[in-house]
Amino acid sequence: GGPLAGKHVLVTSGPTHEPIDPVRYIANRSSGAQGTALAAALRDLGARVTFVTGPADVPPPAGVDVRRVQTARDMLQAVQAALPADVAVMAAAVADWHVSNASGSKMKKDGSGAAPALAFAENPDILAWVSRAANRPSLVVGFAAETDNVLAHATAKRARKECDWIVANDVSPATGIMGGTENAITLITAEGAEDWPRLTKDETARRLALRIAEALA
Ligand code: C5P
Repeated sequence: GGPLAGKHVLVTSGPTHEPIDPVRYIANRSSGAQGTALAAALRDLGARVTFVTGPADVPPPAGVDVRRVQTARDMLQAVQAALPADVAVMAAAVADWHVSNASGSKMKKDGSGAAPALAFAENPDILAWVSRAANRPSLVVGFAAETDNVLAHATAKRARKECDWIVANDVSPATGIMGGTENAITLITAEGAEDWPRLTKDETARRLALRIAEALA
């Protein structure tokens, strides 16, 4: 039962790890908490959830189909394999770049004092890809973590990525949101922007899941 019974929802969550060599990587501070809470809330409304997650601090929820990935490139493949879906909720903090000259063996100091130079190449934009896919979900939700001009940046992001909604939040260190248990979002849709109160990430997830169910009804 539940308002999302019979619906397939794809959720991405967590950071990505971009290797430097077999034992080192570049990552970010995403805990995966908000994506995990959303997957659980969508499951609780009856959805079949495919949960594509990078290496997060929190365990994936029970009762969802978990696909573990490391890199952004792996995440794109897992997302492509998970479609078709009725809804895509892209909460992952995907690295913008990967190391293009990653070493196949552990890098060693050579005694000369010289430091290695990393080169970077842009990662695929998974959200933009899903928004433009031939089998696009009917509702595509992106996230925007910003430290300044949240509304302007997030509104521009919604247009650029061609998603339906953007869930924007201020991740300035002073807010304590990144890695914390609470969130204060601005929901940006075609109709405009709504500021939500500061809530736990679980309560934010429940309200967003209900909103998604309403949009599909
Ligand atoms: O451009 P930015 O990373 O701020 O956009 C954030 C949104 O885009 C999030 O929904 C994130 O999951 C998604 N994204 C993505 N693939 C990327 C970069 C971001 O899906 N390579």
